[in-house]
Amino acid sequence: MTVSLWRLDSIDTTLLLTAEGESDVPSIVWFGDRLPDIDDKVLDAVTAMTDLPLPMAKLDESIALSLFPQRSTGMDCTPALRGHFDGNFFDHRVRRIKARGDGLNLCIELRDEAARLEVVLMLSLHQATGVLSFTTTLTNHANDDYTVDWLASATMPLPGSYRECLHLHGRWGLEFQAHRSAIAPGSLTLQSHRGRTSHERYPGLMIGECGFNENSGDVMAANLAWSGSHASSVELMSDGRMCYQSGVSLDPGELRLAAGETFTAPNCYFKRQTVGGLNAVSQQMHHYMRHEVLPSWTRTERPVHANSWEALYFNHDIETLKLLIDAAAEVGAERFILDDGWFPARRSDNAGLGDWTVDGSVYPEGLYPVVEHVRSHGMQFGLWFEPEMVNPDSELYRSHPDWALHLQSHETPLARNQLVLNIDMPEVFDYLYQHIAALVEEYKIDYIKWDHNRDLILAGDGKRSVMHRQTMACYRLMQKLGENYQKLEIESCSSGGARADWGVLRHTGRVWTSDSIDAIDRVKIQRGYSYFNPPEIMGAHVGHAKAHLTGREINIHTRAIVALQGQYGYEIDARKLDAEEKQILSEYVSLYKNNRGWLSGSTTWRLDSAVDCLTCGGLVSDDKKSSWWFAVAEASLAQTVPGTMVLYGLDKETDYRVRIASRNLEELQKFSKKIPAWVIDGITARGAFLMTVGLVLPVMPAQSALLIEVKSV
Ligand code: DGJ
Repeated sequence: MTVSLWRLDSIDTTLLLTAEGESDVPSIVWFGDRLPDIDDKVLDAVTAMTDLPLPMAKLDESIALSLFPQRSTGMDCTPALRGHFDGNFFDHRVRRIKARGDGLNLCIELRDEAARLEVVLMLSLHQATGVLSFTTTLTNHANDDYTVDWLASATMPLPGSYRECLHLHGRWGLEFQAHRSAIAPGSLTLQSHRGRTSHERYPGLMIGECGFNENSGDVMAANLAWSGSHASSVELMSDGRMCYQSGVSLDPGELRLAAGETFTAPNCYFKRQTVGGLNAVSQQMHHYMRHEVLPSWTRTERPVHANSWEALYFNHDIETLKLLIDAAAEVGAERFILDDGWFPARRSDNAGLGDWTVDGSVYPEGLYPVVEHVRSHGMQFGLWFEPEMVNPDSELYRSHPDWALHLQSHETPLARNQLVLNIDMPEVFDYLYQHIAALVEEYKIDYIKWDHNRDLILAGDGKRSVMHRQTMACYRLMQKLGENYQKLEIESCSSGGARADWGVLRHTGRVWTSDSIDAIDRVKIQRGYSYFNPPEIMGAHVGHAKAHLTGREINIHTRAIVALQGQYGYEIDARKLDAEEKQILSEYVSLYKNNRGWLSGSTTWRLDSAVDCLTCGGLVSDDKKSSWWFAVAEASLAQTVPGTMVLYGLDKETDYRVRIASRNLEELQKFSKKIPAWVIDGITARGAFLMTVGLVLPVMPAQSALLIEVKSV
């Protein structure tokens, strides 16, 4: 039997695939550390080494776990494709027609000649990071419509030693909560049917050997770039083989391919590190994302935001706004964002969505007085939109009730008093583009906060579901704006962080991480977020002393230190800050401004903590010369002292100046009889020692935080 072999190599990773016979679908033999070169002898050995045994009571031939598992071959796991021609051809058998590679890319063409379906698998390995991008395309060459029930974006076999996975779950106001699940026989499925990425399930996960940690263990990341309904699974079969699969979760009958039509499933990205744990994987994912996914403007210095939402909610008036803008400028804001409430009838969340013109009753001269005031402080101007939504109480809905997603047979439930527009309809798409573009041009808007505040339910055009088309149309709308206004920055917000996946981030480039600006909740939210996304695109604001969502009172240092872990900003009524608070915030904002150059592009290190409620981590510059380390005691610690913080990612041979950069030393001193010597005056220490002996932390009371600066001398 002929055995074919394909390999892709990046600097640190090899993807090795084989297939027996002329037409078999390739299977992955290895995805991980780079392998030595292979000659024919090695190939023979690899073929023998990976030859499958044949257990009793199964098919008469062993079945490889291919890149495109199919039930028709006898494979047990979830098939990569489920669909039918009106009930006919309920199962398929695609065979390999061609596979072409160039060392970093492999394109595999598969066909079911009888059903006249074509599948193309495209695998690309990124040279610098070893991140694998996997895309699947299906084309219907038959004359009849083909209904797709499921098309996997990717199927990835998992190493037999993998037994645990870390995934992100949550809710409104508490997104990105890391949760560990054991991989057990059967299937672990993570799904969102909500038509958006969701607060509840992030479409990515980390899978690895038992007990993997932040800095140790064999771990693979899988990350689906999709902002609509999604599903992913980790399946452990009775023969011990395991695979990951993910894709768009489709409604019944939603995806019908007419003759000649193609559906491209969203990309899924993988990265494996056989040593180094979660940090090693996140770091490469961040690097890849920065260079291959995010818009280029994310690589410029990230300005300090001030957002009007929690200061004003819907109570807009020009004079108040001017005072708020003055106060925001005083604490160093560089971009002012006018949030929800600026368009007609928007005095509460009952009305107005869809009518994207300025409310003349509040702003008789348009937004000019506000925009000019913002610019007079040298700040940029940003505006909030929720393009996909409409209130029944709006001019738009009254004129075009048929523009809202619906199913004729049932009434669509409201959420936040709103419905969703069918933005795949060309007239809706054009309406939105024209209205947003007109405002962008009129006011020279620098930045859009693009919100999306409800799940999609009965997301139909009257008869059929258009759920996935909605997501595609949203991407198109963002892309068109991005192409025509190249300096325009867009933030992805969805009641906080319910749309923070790599699909939308190709067009947006900043995430409003959560509506909870409670710095203590933010610690875990931001940490969870960091598994897949880098810090400079994470919206992180200093909120009010008493957090609006939780009612928790948190001191100003902790609020600022937690916000410094991302793109720093304010969501605060700065008018009400006293002189001391303004002074403190001005110092923190200067810290941000003086360091943001290296913070964008920095390496994230989450630290494992043996102490409950103590969360530590750091950001290290690319050249290892600068770093910031954070410690937050989220509640009272169960031990009298927090212990030692061992640093990572520095240069062993370099001497570093270590000092507390946060302004709360005096406050911390009150909580112990003595604080460690290095804390008082700082020290100079060699990287090798900081990364082994570490720094003993001072006593930290509940809800306190520390920012430690470590810079080469
Ligand atoms: C939800 C967002 O997450 C908030 O920041 C704010 O913009 C509101 N929507 C406005 O309605």
